[in-house]
Amino acid sequence: MNTVINMHSVCKIISENIPYEKKDISGKIKNYFFPKKKNKYLVKNCSIKLSAGRSLAIIGSNGAGKSTLMKIISGIMQPSNGTIKILDYVPYERNKSFQKKLGVVFGHKSSLIWDLPAKYSFDLHKTIYGIDDISYERRLKHLTSILSMEKCLERRVKNMSLGERVKSDLIMNLLHSPELILLDEPTIGVDMESKMMIREFINYEKEKNNRTFILTSHDPTDIENCCDEINILAKGEIVLAEETSNLKKRYQQKVKIILKNKELNQELIKENILAWSSQAEFYLINDCLNVITNKEDEINLINLFISMKITDFELKSMSFEEILAGQFQIFKNNESDNYESDGDN
Ligand SMILES: Nc1ncnc2c1ncn2[C@@H]1O[C@H](COP(=O)(O)OP(=O)(O)OP(=O)(O)O)[C@@H](O)[C@H]1O
Ligand SMILES: [Mg+2]
Repeated sequence: MNTVINMHSVCKIISENIPYEKKDISGKIKNYFFPKKKNKYLVKNCSIKLSAGRSLAIIGSNGAGKSTLMKIISGIMQPSNGTIKILDYVPYERNKSFQKKLGVVFGHKSSLIWDLPAKYSFDLHKTIYGIDDISYERRLKHLTSILSMEKCLERRVKNMSLGERVKSDLIMNLLHSPELILLDEPTIGVDMESKMMIREFINYEKEKNNRTFILTSHDPTDIENCCDEINILAKGEIVLAEETSNLKKRYQQKVKIILKNKELNQELIKENILAWSSQAEFYLINDCLNVITNKEDEINLINLFISMKITDFELKSMSFEEILAGQFQIFKNNESDNYESDGDN
């Protein structure tokens, strides 16, 4: 299978001002004249390999580095180190043939002309990308019909709703039939029906036209329905890379227990739980201890809680959303800060 994305140990490092601890006038003067700087990793040692016709979800909490990674893959941002080949091009060299094979949509940032009807932006895109008349008309008709946007073509972008604007951006950036499509939160502000249309479109393009997708989204249904692989980012690092079906299979046999009393001796409870269920995973939400454990250990743990006089707990099966949220929290609790240490290069 053709490798579309081949990225190895990519980092993006920026220099950030670290404020002096003293908040008085001397601290302010020092901050202004002698700013203390420290290197910060926005993205750290990220390696991704993706074949044609596959779709990858890059997910993580706000500020994890997803959009930064998308900018590096699309060539908008040059990595500080590491190697990157996308469709056999080095993206930040911004070769014209590479740009024609790439479609990029940032759901929160429009590339349409604000004061004019969307159709003007589409026509401009046609000219810039050198799309012939017949392909353009065919593609425009196809995209507007699957996203139910026929009536919006002549509407000024500034008068569109958020969802209509996102869908118009999506149409424009797909008009040139790109081989690799990067979608950064493409379903933001989009209604349920349109979300389903976008997911169907992704699956159709993957299966019928062997298109490759990278998607970031905070909606687990997007990921569950149209992403073959998942990379979880935490503070710029890929902390988990797995096939979506594998991740689901691993957690299908698990159950989540939430201990609702915040005053409990959580360290002691963890120790006791691990004695019964060595695979158990822990994280805190609102200071309450959440435990993920195998279903077969459930009864033993309930008995353990009763013996410890703990009655205030809730049992939950693992939906896909619970699985992802659990993974975010597990890695959040484990992650270190993302400033460069003295030992780093
Ligand atoms: N040019 C920059 N200078 C300094 N910090 C930056 C810069 N660009 C991004 N960051 C910081 O890097 C981190 C990662 O940002 P990024 O936009 O990639 O996050 P994200 O995972 O896309 O988050 P979200 O889910 O909110 O979209 C954030 O803490 C952000 O503030
Ligand atoms: Mg983002």
